[in-house]
Amino acid sequence: MTQIELRGVQKWFGAVQVIKDLNLTIADNEFIVLLGQSGCGKTTTLRAVAGLETIDEGDILIDGQKVQHLKCSDRDIAMVFQSFSLYPHMTVYENIAFPLRATRMAKSDIDTAVREIARVLRITDLLDKKPSALSGGDMQRVAIGRALVRRPKAMLMDEPIGALDAKLREEMRAEIKRLHVKQGSTTIYVTHDQIEAMSLADRIVIMHEGVLQQVGTPEEVYQRPANLFVAQFVGSPVMNVAETRVAAQGGEASVSVGGVERGFAFPHELLSKLNGHAAGGLALGIRPEGVLVRHEKADGYLPVEARIIEPLGSFDIVDLRVGDEVLRARTKSGFVPGPGKQVFARLDPAQAHFFDTASGKSLGVKL
Ligand SMILES: Nc1ncnc2c1ncn2[C@@H]1O[C@H](COP(=O)(O)OP(=O)(O)O)[C@@H](O)[C@H]1O
Ligand SMILES: [Mg+2]
Repeated sequence: MTQIELRGVQKWFGAVQVIKDLNLTIADNEFIVLLGQSGCGKTTTLRAVAGLETIDEGDILIDGQKVQHLKCSDRDIAMVFQSFSLYPHMTVYENIAFPLRATRMAKSDIDTAVREIARVLRITDLLDKKPSALSGGDMQRVAIGRALVRRPKAMLMDEPIGALDAKLREEMRAEIKRLHVKQGSTTIYVTHDQIEAMSLADRIVIMHEGVLQQVGTPEEVYQRPANLFVAQFVGSPVMNVAETRVAAQGGEASVSVGGVERGFAFPHELLSKLNGHAAGGLALGIRPEGVLVRHEKADGYLPVEARIIEPLGSFDIVDLRVGDEVLRARTKSGFVPGPGKQVFARLDPAQAHFFDTASGKSLGVKL
């Protein structure tokens, strides 16, 4: 049982505030991913939880006990970094056993624990090897094994697979997930890679410039981004965002982007849901899969010009010129044969998001 809580945590480095009033509760056994661009304060947050960094304000609680004044060694938390350091002169077995040797555990119990973790991590056949004989992925497995062998209260991982190549990263991602399901431990995992975050997290914590932007399941942050930052940070290809005006037009709402007179047709109820934002200070957000394209004219479709076509294998991303804006649409591959063609586009109201441009906050409109 390990619950971790951060209450009003603030951290400065000199005059620069790098964590701004961070509040977060992590449940027992939960896999939390801290996601954000480089420099947003992820590592500092993790180090503060581990006790490797002091905080200036607020509390850090583990199972309800304030720990911010406890030393790292008294918090019973394990940490895995991107640049792992195995002891080069020791075998894999000795590396994993090392944290247990420091305790008074019996030799036979150490042996049982090392072999069990090696079995879970599928590195049993490497136990007699030296680190220099291992691949990058195996070295990281050993580092994880060494961190987990003493069954810490919580596991903190700072971009643990960031240095591996793409294929190995994918493999290790699956491995870390499997390990979590099997072993179960409260985990905080740091990454700047949103795909890694989406695939691993029970809940994702998105940070930007030291400020928590949103906490939610991968589905929540993808489907209901709280603000423009999250909307454009999560999801690939990136969500289209364009200033928009919404007006009543023939029993419908017309959503105009790029300064064109005729807008995209939306249900009339949009106007009341926008709550006075229709005339200005409004941004539309729509993912490329919400921009629907066809070759022939049809009800609710506007004529648009296809510009750049980016083939991505299983689908294409097509830049559509709408007035002085560009909306990117996701189409079947080869659907638009070449740039310069006229096609017809519609926006799927169920996939549209509306944001207040001044605050960046989502207006929470659901259609
Ligand atoms: N020991 C330090 N001294 C001064 N500034 C630091 C120190 N550690 C980190 N920073 C700064 O704090 C900010 C957050 O850093 P960090 O937590 O490492 O971000 P992230 O892990 O998200 O990339 C950055 O601007 C970084 O330059
Ligand atoms: Mg970092």
